[in-house]
Formats: sequence, structure tokens, C-alpha cells
Amino acid sequence: MARIRLRKIQSSDSKFLYELLKERNPKSFISHKSLPTYHEHKQFVKSFPYSRWYVIYFNSVRAGSISITVQNEIGIWILQKFQNKGIGSKALEILIQKSPTKRYLANINPKNKESMEFFEKHNFKLIQYTFELKNNETKKKNKAI
Ligand SMILES: CC(C)(COP(=O)(O)OP(=O)(O)OC[C@H]1O[C@@H](n2cnc3c(N)ncnc32)[C@H](O)[C@@H]1OP(=O)(O)O)[C@@H](O)C(=O)NCCC(=O)NCCS
Repeated sequence: MARIRLRKIQSSDSKFLYELLKERNPKSFISHKSLPTYHEHKQFVKSFPYSRWYVIYFNSVRAGSISITVQNEIGIWILQKFQNKGIGSKALEILIQKSPTKRYLANINPKNKESMEFFEKHNFKLIQYTFELKNNETKKKNKAI
């Protein structure tokens, strides 16, 4: 039977995490608008940006990563070739066991229907819409007045 487990991120995971990052479709994330350089990425990994950050193993192979921030926001990424095999569901369950807290959040791009369905399936409920002011566009409009 397939075994899914989490292991804490090490700096030697940088290359794997960069491969994961390169697969990201722009609709699937909110924070990074463009791909960072490998050097920027390595610095990011070294900076311990999350409260907990794990590599997800599928048997002996790295299949994705899962993290939780100090604000209890979960981020989960599975390599495309390993999606829809139940790995994300199991990893989410293990992360929640390892990080007991009153609430868990997930910030999802509204265009990312698959992820919204994934979190809904795991009993997450939509609580807010967040809007971002696009400064440049506002400035352009003001100039025209
Ligand atoms: C969203 C994401 C994390 C889901 O992970 P996943 O491993 O593909 O999800 P799962 O396989 O656990 O569940 C997805 C489907 O697989 C099905 N599944 C579960 N176990 C399965 C198994 N053993 N064999 C086949 N399918 C299975 C589930 O039933 C589910 O289908 P359903 O929606 O019809 O119920 C993953 O697709 C991903 O990394 N997406 C890109 C990154 C992203 O958008 N992340 C979210 C931002 S935080």
C-alpha cells in the first residue's frame, strides 16, 4: 500500500521545491506574480518563511510540499504527475494532526476551481473575498481626470 509521510524541509530540498514552483500555473497562486530566480528561491527557503514546512513523500519519492504560516494559512502543492491520487488529502490530514490549532485557513485564487473544490471537500468554508487595489491602474485613471 502507498505510504504518505511528511518530512521537514531542508536546504537540500531547494532544487525539488524550485521544480514544484516552476509547475505552478499563474491561476493557482496569489502571492508570486512571476517566477523568482533560483538564487532568490534558495534565499526564501533558507529564511524559514513558514511556521511549519514539509516535503510530502509518496513512498520514497518527493511528491509535493505543504506548509502552515503563523496565521494558520495552509499552502499545499503536489507535482502534477502525482495529483488525484489521494496524496493531498492525506498530507492535509497529517499536517492538521501535527499542527493543532483553533482554525485553519487557505487563501485560494478564485480562478483555481480544483483547489477550491479540494478544500471544500475537506470541510473548509468560504469566509471572505479579499480585494487588492491595483495602484498603477488607479494612478493612470487619476492622470486622465
Ligand atoms: C489541490 C491539490 C493540493 C490537491 O491535491 P491532490 O493530491 O491532487 O488531491 P487528492 O488526490 O487528495 O484529491 C483530489 C481527487 O482525487 C481523488 N482521490 C482521492 N484518493 C484517490 C486515490 N487513492 N486514487 C485516485 N483518486 C483519488 C479524490 O476523490 C479527489 O477527487 P474528488 O474531487 O472527485 O473527490 C493539488 O491538485 C495541487 O497541488 N494543485 C496545484 C497547487 C494548488 O493549487 N494548491 C492550492 C493553493 S494552497
